[in-house]
Amino acid sequence: MSVHFTVNCDSAIFRLNIRLLHRRTLWLLQQNKVAEHSISILLVDDEEISWLNSNYRNKTGATNVLSFPLDDGNDPLSVVNSIGIKELGDIIISVETARREAKNLNVSLHDSLTWLLTHGLLHLLGYDHERSKKEAHKMWDLENKLIKQLHNSRSNQMTQLAINVDHVATVRNARGINEPDPVAAAAICELAGASGIVVHLREDRRHINDRDVRLLRETIKTRMNLEMGANKKIIEIALALKPDMVTLVPEKRQELTTEGGLNVSGQKKKLARTINLMNKSGIPVSLFIDPEAKQVKAAHAIGATYVELHTGRYCDAENETIQEEEYQMIASAAEEAYQMGLRVNAGHGLDYQTTAKIAALDTIEELSIGHAIIARAVFVGLDQAVREMGKIVRDASMIF
Ligand code: PXP
Repeated sequence: MSVHFTVNCDSAIFRLNIRLLHRRTLWLLQQNKVAEHSISILLVDDEEISWLNSNYRNKTGATNVLSFPLDDGNDPLSVVNSIGIKELGDIIISVETARREAKNLNVSLHDSLTWLLTHGLLHLLGYDHERSKKEAHKMWDLENKLIKQLHNSRSNQMTQLAINVDHVATVRNARGINEPDPVAAAAICELAGASGIVVHLREDRRHINDRDVRLLRETIKTRMNLEMGANKKIIEIALALKPDMVTLVPEKRQELTTEGGLNVSGQKKKLARTINLMNKSGIPVSLFIDPEAKQVKAAHAIGATYVELHTGRYCDAENETIQEEEYQMIASAAEEAYQMGLRVNAGHGLDYQTTAKIAALDTIEELSIGHAIIARAVFVGLDQAVREMGKIVRDASMIF
């Protein structure tokens, strides 16, 4: 499948997000079961579309969209070009007209362009509203249905960035005084665009402590994700605190950080009991697991709301081949979890190089990132470090 965009208008003036349009076009091709076909999309101004309109359709003036099937008269799905690729043809859109229409309808330019892409694609697939009233209704109905589905679809959801502020507490605790304060850090992260704050209340309280979680619960404006081991005392604290969600992780005192995912299949009863307790208090539970089908299935079976896929092996891979293999494991575990109805987060070890590829997975809802952001904050400040990571996540999941 390939989608070729050519921009013959000033994309900076129109502030076009071609990656977003590209992603939406791929989605439209998939929905119409022509994912293996190629399509060319040309974005022009009114002058160019008027010229095309007059030369190819004998009509004067600008229009919003023109569709040119590769081979008129044949079955549009069977046209193969000279190098053996199945091609649907060309869609030409005037961004200038699309912008005017967007203004009139009070929608965004990209939504207006998406509507025109859908309309143009249906023409390439053989639908034609000019043929008869019946055909027109058929085409409009399908168009509306696709647009509605697209708006609810995962390709339209942006990956969120939640920030783990444990390391701020680690620095504070190294001096045994009260700064830097993870509570202040959380506020800065939120002001810089974080969509959630994560803290791990460890049994040994090596970084985040009881005072921190209490104050964070009162001050976090976005969402508080409490990471914790399924340990009796910590469970009691979580039930009293009522964070927005908890993430259950394996916890060993001797480890530097959470080293592997939970073995869910090996401790189903214990984890199911904890999930049950949390759910009764209205707290959704995420299970931090390695990206493996067995763990995804077990998490689903015991009633988790989310899984958080461990990205550590992908981030620490020694070479590109291993990294690609690890990435594929994350992608397929995420797909499997998503298809089962689990919500999917990911994290651990993600940095300014490794994040984009994971954020681009449309099955993943939120990334949990700590060390890389706090490490960069030492040099550029926390606000900037968060904004830079936010941009990477946003650009990769390309939503506006
Ligand atoms: N997710 C979980 C479950 C973790 O335990 C951690 C580490 O505290 C993270 C995400 C964040 O990892 P990092 O600090 O390497 O970004």
